[in-house]
Order: sequence, then C-alpha cells, then structure tokens
Amino acid sequence: MKSICPGVLLLVTTIFFTGCGNTTLQKTDINQPSVYNKEIKTLMSKMTLEEKIGQLNMLRGKMLVTGPIVRSNVAKEIKADRVGAMLSCYTASYTRKLMELAVDSTRLHIPLLFGFDVIHGQRTIFPIPLGESCSWDLNLIEHAARVAADEASAEGIQWTFAPMVDITRDPRWGRVMEGAGEDPWYGSLVAKAMVRGFQGQNLSNDSTILACVKHGVAYGAPIAGRDYNTVDMSMRTLLGVYMPPYHAAVEAGVATAMSAFNDLNGTPCTANSWIWNTMFRKKWGFKGFVVSDYTSINELIPHGVAKNLFDADVLAFNAGVDMDMVGNGYIKNLKKAVEEGLVSEKEIDNSVYRILKAKFELGLFDNPYKYCNEEREKNDTLTPQHLAVAREDARESMVLLKNSNHLLPFSRKIKSIAIIGPLGNDKFDMIGSWSAAGDRKHMPVSLLEGVKNKLGNKVRILYAKGTGFTSQSTKGFAKAVRIAKEADVVLLALGESDNMTGEASSRANIDLPGNQRALADAVIKANKRTAVVLMNGRPLTITHLNKVAPAILEAWFGGTEAGNAIADVIFGDYNPSGKLTMTFPRCVGQIPIFYSHMNTGRPYSPTNHYTTHYEDCPNSPLYPFGYGLSYTKFQFDSLKVDKKVMTTKDTLKVSVVLKNVGNYDGTEVAQLYIRDMVGSVTRPVKELRGFKRVFLKKGTSKKLTFKLTNYDLSFFRKDMTFGSESGRFDVFVGGSSKTRYKTSFILNQ
Ligand code: BGC
Repeated sequence: MKSICPGVLLLVTTIFFTGCGNTTLQKTDINQPSVYNKEIKTLMSKMTLEEKIGQLNMLRGKMLVTGPIVRSNVAKEIKADRVGAMLSCYTASYTRKLMELAVDSTRLHIPLLFGFDVIHGQRTIFPIPLGESCSWDLNLIEHAARVAADEASAEGIQWTFAPMVDITRDPRWGRVMEGAGEDPWYGSLVAKAMVRGFQGQNLSNDSTILACVKHGVAYGAPIAGRDYNTVDMSMRTLLGVYMPPYHAAVEAGVATAMSAFNDLNGTPCTANSWIWNTMFRKKWGFKGFVVSDYTSINELIPHGVAKNLFDADVLAFNAGVDMDMVGNGYIKNLKKAVEEGLVSEKEIDNSVYRILKAKFELGLFDNPYKYCNEEREKNDTLTPQHLAVAREDARESMVLLKNSNHLLPFSRKIKSIAIIGPLGNDKFDMIGSWSAAGDRKHMPVSLLEGVKNKLGNKVRILYAKGTGFTSQSTKGFAKAVRIAKEADVVLLALGESDNMTGEASSRANIDLPGNQRALADAVIKANKRTAVVLMNGRPLTITHLNKVAPAILEAWFGGTEAGNAIADVIFGDYNPSGKLTMTFPRCVGQIPIFYSHMNTGRPYSPTNHYTTHYEDCPNSPLYPFGYGLSYTKFQFDSLKVDKKVMTTKDTLKVSVVLKNVGNYDGTEVAQLYIRDMVGSVTRPVKELRGFKRVFLKKGTSKKLTFKLTNYDLSFFRKDMTFGSESGRFDVFVGGSSKTRYKTSFILNQ
C-alpha cells in the first residue's frame, strides 16, 4: 500500500462510500503507450467495431469444465472474428487447431489467447498453494510457478488464472486451498513471487505466460465461509488487509486481473468501477486487462443489480472489466450499447488495446504457434528436474504439528510398518483440487508407494484402507486394527477428498469427515507408535486427534511427488520446516480466527468473567499462525534493537541469535512481529513484518538481522491516510506468532 497517497485515498474512500461510482465512466486513457503502440494502433485502425468487440470475448474449450455450461459453436465463432480468447484448451495439437482457425480464417489474422487454471502445476503437480505457502520459501514458490509456466506454455497455454491472492481467515471456505493464507504482508510477497515465476523477465520468451491476479477483490471473505456469498467489510479492513496482495501483484507487473464473483458492500466486484478504474488503474497504475470470472457478468442479474444481460454488460464494461469470460454477453450487447451511447467506443478501443498489447508482448503476432510446441510438450513436461522440484516443494510444505517423545522420525531399522487410512494408497485425491492437466491415475506417488520406494523390501509393509473419506461403515476397522497391532509403527493417512476443497466446496463442519476420527481412536489404541499424516486442503478442527495421536504431520495435498516427499520426512531424510500460514481453530465456533486480531477493551483474563471469551472453548487456536515443529530444537537469544528511538527516516535493525540446540540439522523460519501499542485507531496485537528461513547444523548458532522502516510501521490511520504514528512499538521474534520474546522501541515523527 506504499504508494497510496493520502489525498487520493480520501477521494477513493468518498467514491467508495457513495456507491462505488459504478455508473460513471472513469477509465483512464492510454497514457503510457506500449512499446508495440504503433503496431497495435495500425492493427486497430483496420478493425471494425464488431471485430474489436470480438477481442473482448472469451469462449470455453473442451477440456475442463469450471462452471455452468454455456454452449457456443467455437469454430464458427472464431472464424467469424468473434473470439479473442479461449478458456480450458490445452495440448499443442488442440490449441494449434483453434489457432489455425483464428489466424487462417479471419480477416485480420489475430491470434487467440489460451487461458487456463494452472494453479499449482500443469502436468507436474506441486502442493496446493496453501501448503506451498507454508514453506515460507519464496524462491521455491517462484521456481514452482516457473516450472508450471514452462509446462503449460509447451502445450499452447499462454495465460494462467493465478495467483489467487485472496486473504483467507475462514477455513470453511473451500478455496482457502488456493491462496497463501491469512496474512496480507506475507501474502503480498507470495503474490509477487508467483507473478515473477509465471511471467519471468520477458513475456516474449517461449516459456513465460501471462499471470492473472484474482479474484478482485475480497473474494476470500464470504459471509459464513460459503463460496460466492456476499462480502461486507469495513474500508479499513479492505484496504489494510484484503487489498495489499492485489496491489503487490500489480507492483510485480501482473499482466491481467480477474473480477470476483462476490458482492462487496453492496456492489458486485464485476460491476465495481472503484476496484478496477479507481484502484487498479488510476491508483496502482495497472496496465493490463481485466477479465470477468466465469459468467460473473451474467450473474449481475441474480445479484439484483441488472435487470437483463444488456444492462449487466454495460455495468461490467463501464466498471472496467475488459473481457467477458464465457458469458456471451459483450459479443451480443456491446455494439448496441455503443450505438445507444451507454458505452463509449473510445473505451472499447482502450480495452482492445490492452488485450492486443498482451498478444504482442507474448510474441503471438510474430509466431502464433510458438506455444503449440509438440516437441517441447513431449520433452519438457514431467521431467526428472520438474519432479525433483515438486518433491522438494512438497517436503518444505509439510508442517509437523505434534511429535510426542520424538516418535518421528521413524527409524529405518523397524521390521514392519502398517499404512492405514483412506489416503494411505490414494493417488486421485492426494494431488488436490485445481490440478490442471495433472494425471491422477498413474503419476502421483501414493504414500504406500513412497514408503516402499524408501524402504525397499527390507521392511514388511502392511496396508489397510480402514474406511472411506465420508464412510460411516466400520467394516474395514478390524483389518486396520489387526495390522496396527502386528506392525512396529503405523502411518495413519487421514484427511479430505480433493473435492471437499476448491471452488464451491465450502464445509460447515471442518472436522475429519466420515468416521475417520473413530478409525484413528481404534488404530492408536492398537499401536501407540502411530503417526498421523494429514492430507487436506484447509485447516481442520482436529482437537480430539491432537489429544490422542502421538504425532501429526500436516502434508496438505502434496502433488505428484507427495508419497516420496512424505516418506522423506517420516524417515528423517528431510527435517520438517513448514510453518502454518493459516490458523487451525479448535472448533468451528471460533471462526473467523487469525493471529493479528485487535485486543478488545476487555481482553481475556481468567480471573474476570466479564472479559472476551467462550464458555465452552478457549480463545486460543489449536495451532497458531507461523507454528510448526522440527525434529531439532531452536532457541532465540540476545534480541536487540540498534536504537531505542527511531524517526520515520531511520531504518531500525533488530538482531537476534538463533541456536540449533537439538539433535538434528534443521531449518527454522524465524519470524518478526510488531505491535503498535497506542494508535489513533485500534491496532492488531501482532503483525508479521519479517522472516528468515535459516538452515543450521545441530549445535550451531547464527545472528540474524531484520530491518524495519517507517513503511513497516504504517497503516490506515483514523483519517484513512496511510502512515505511521509516534509512540511505542513492541517487536517480537520467535518460531511462531505465539512468541512472547520481545523488546521495544519508540518511533518519533
Ligand atoms: C473460478 C476462477 C477460474 C475460472 C476459470 C471460475 O469458476 O472462480 O478462479 O479461473 O473459473 O476456470
């Protein structure tokens, strides 16, 4: 939010509170022409209005269905110059065929854009983004996005609908799996890393693709966690918590953005000029184009802000949405809207300009087929190098939640191991929702296979499914208990099926589904040396499991190499280092739950009934943000600030000594939080402002230095200007957001 200047912000706030200005035309002119300005202008000068509107139209291909079916005769429409982009098309041959139609059979030979949801890999599938974010390894996150772009671009895709940067504080919402969790500061860094990964240095390279920041905005905060539901939030929360990651993506040069399905404070995001024209374009300088979400323009009718598709199209277009995803509305209605003076032709030109710019930048006018590359498709996907990145990514994503008496890592000297549970030998579900073109049958390494790969035939490996994901039948329990008793150790693989998270997959109850909890009780009773491996797409309420299970490893949906990666962690070839980026509640009643809440006027005190609390559950989460264990033990020492008083011009250095005092080499994610003690508005009890991922050999230590500037201390003040305020700040350092290890300093303006 660095560049938000106070004066404009006030204006913005005014516009927002007076109804989001969605009926007035506010689009900026093309004031900063592209390097392809001449080529674009020359091409546009030859285009008819109908052909221009065709560029704003996206149709759906035959691959993946991600929303309600809308039928169109794709070939006919492309040949008629009525399509600018296609959704859900891949493979070099299929995209080539469609591209040929556009290039050979149309008057102006304008190439098509192919967009697809490459969310966590194309063929080589990485852990779900929520899992990946728990690695706190921005280089790896960027690298995984690079690999995804590499594979996608080989089979015709030049545009991914990622990153999803929606802040998520309600694990009932199924799409929490697709983002980087609850924290805006960290989420902004992940957003930038992913944009860099997909787009690279230069979009004209054959393996770089357009990124699309989504879903603008605040889609991650639907009331009651139900997907597509209304979002109602204060301007301060919107600007301070939910908007920063979109802004970060724009700062990183994201080429496109997607408008969200939800209604925000009364105006659906797809009809919200304040979001697109005011914030993205005018304030943040976004130069790319905005695509609607899947039929989100049509949905302005059920939202109740448009009485028919014509009105919906006028609303969305004037709100700054350049391209209509699958809705078939712009193509039908925009010409008439121009003729009736409801939409200006100049604005149509601006939208077309932005879309053509992307096509020029990708190099499609030089070679429309550069992305439809059969040879690269064959040789560059699922390579050993890509799979190695997936394995590393999956290992780093895992979070060790509990490890009583150092049960883990298991020794390889065991004679037998039992693998039990619905995810014990699963391939289909373990790679997770939004797995693009990922194979779910053969490629994914199941947990059973991963353990076999690790142990060979030296150890007896027993397997029982025990129960299904949602089953209530206890038929399989007997075998599970029998092999648990027989084996030296047990790996109990529990969790969700992949379709329990992702779009339209909210849950009102986020416990282990079916009778998995009962299975856990039976198996743990039969063998105390049981480690639970969780595979799931959201934080779960596993308070009971936490009580009974000696060890719990959160493996998320780990992608193609999950089984190998889990075996690496379980047998100690990789010491877990992941830290949660989303709080795990004890029960659903605590939701929404996040570490950076306000203090309230009556913070909880056990000796005072009239303080904020539940009668039947503690306030604290089961596992807090930033939490995660290691096989070794880390200690923080000698926390210091280099000055006790800083001014807004200074950079404050915070140093701490990190020691590995345990018995293993390992990686700690050292986290720095601040607390602004007194503000003109209430301030969070903690806010993340730094982290370092540090590998330390056992018995060694390292001095870490963090820097804090005025910007890190700034927020939206009482008058909604962005800046800092004088006073005391506490600064905490530690291995999770629960750390109490602190010092303090004073900021003087
Ligand atoms: C989702 C988007 C996705 C689009 C295209 C929609 O239903 O909300 O995230 O990019 O479909 O598949």
